Amino acid sequence: MRVHHRNRSLVKWIRQVLTNIGSLKTKLLLSFCMLFALSLIVGRAGSFMGWHRHSTELKFPSSRGGYTVLINTWRRNSVLKQSVAHYASCSSVDAIRVVWSENNPPSESLKAYLRKSVRSKAKSNHKPDFRFDLNEQDNLNNRFKPIEGLRTDAIFSIDDDVVVPCSTLEFAFSVWQSAPYSMVGFVPRMHWVDTKSADAIRYKYGGWWSVWWMGTYSMVLSKAAFFHQKYLEMYTYHMPASIQEYVSRERNCEDIAMSFLVANATGAPPVWVKGKLFEIGSSGISSLKGHSQRRNECLNDFVSLYGYMPLVASNFNAVNVQYEWFW
Ligand SMILES: *[C@@H]1O[C@H](CO)[C@@H](O)[C@H](O)[C@H]1NC(C)=O
Repeated sequence: MRVHHRNRSLVKWIRQVLTNIGSLKTKLLLSFCMLFALSLIVGRAGSFMGWHRHSTELKFPSSRGGYTVLINTWRRNSVLKQSVAHYASCSSVDAIRVVWSENNPPSESLKAYLRKSVRSKAKSNHKPDFRFDLNEQDNLNNRFKPIEGLRTDAIFSIDDDVVVPCSTLEFAFSVWQSAPYSMVGFVPRMHWVDTKSADAIRYKYGGWWSVWWMGTYSMVLSKAAFFHQKYLEMYTYHMPASIQEYVSRERNCEDIAMSFLVANATGAPPVWVKGKLFEIGSSGISSLKGHSQRRNECLNDFVSLYGYMPLVASNFNAVNVQYEWFW
C-alpha cells in the first residue's frame, strides 16, 4: 500500500517537473518571439525615422513572398515526377525549377506530364511556375547557377529524392524569413577538429550520428535547405574558381562549398530546423564507401583555399511546437 502510494506521488512529482520544464520552454520560446518582434519593430521604426546604419553588413533586397523550389535531378524521372507533384501541393511555392544536367533535354512527354501534374496538384489559385533549367554537362556546380526569371528571394534547394512535408516546409520558410542571410535546412553536419592529427589543425567531417549525439553543427546541406537567391550569383560568379573546379573534378562537396561561402559572407552559423524527411527511390551517394574520407578531404582542402576555417558551430535548433507533442 505504502509503496504504491509513494509510487503515485513520484509519478505526480515527475509530471509536475515535466510540466514545469514544458512551461519554462514555452516561456523561453515566447520571450524569444517577443525579442524578435521587438527587433523587427525597432528595425522598421529605424528605417521609417530615417536612421541608416552604415555598416559593411550584407545588404540584400527585402524578401518577396513565397519561395522557389530548386530541384536537382539526374536520370530519375519517376522520382522527379513524385517530387514535383509533392512540392506543387505546398502553399507558398511560387515556382518549381528543375536543374537538368544531361546531354539530351527532357522529353516532351515528361515535360507535358510534369506541367499537368503541377496544375492539378496546386492547392491555391496561384499555380506554381514550372520550368526546366537545362545544362548539357553533368556538373555539380549546375545546381547553384543563377536562375533567370526568378520571382522570389527565397530558394528551397532540394535533391529529387527527398520529400519534406508541406507543413514542415512552411515552418522552415518562416524561420528563413526571420534570418534571410542564413542557410536554413534539415540536414545538419559538423566540422570536428581531428585530435589525432599532430601537425597543423585538421578537420573531420561529422555526419548525422555525431551531430545527433553532440547536438552541435556548422553546416546544413543543400540537399534540403532554404537560402537567399543572391548566394547563387555569389557561388557562380564570385566564389574562387578553384573551388568550382575542385567540385567539378571531384564530383562531390558542392554542398560544403556553399556552406563555406555563406559562412564566409555572414560570419554566422546556419539554422537547423528539426523535421522528418522522406527519401524516395534508391539510396543516395552517402551510403557509398569512402564517402566520409572524401568529405574530410574537401573540408581540409577548402580550408587551405580560404586560408582559414569560416564555418561557425551552433547548438540552436528550431522546432515547430505545433507538431511536437513532447518537448
Ligand atoms: C570571404 O569574404 C570576404 C569578405 O566578404 C571576401 O573578401 C573574400 O573574397 C571571401 N573569401 C572567399 C574565399 O570567397
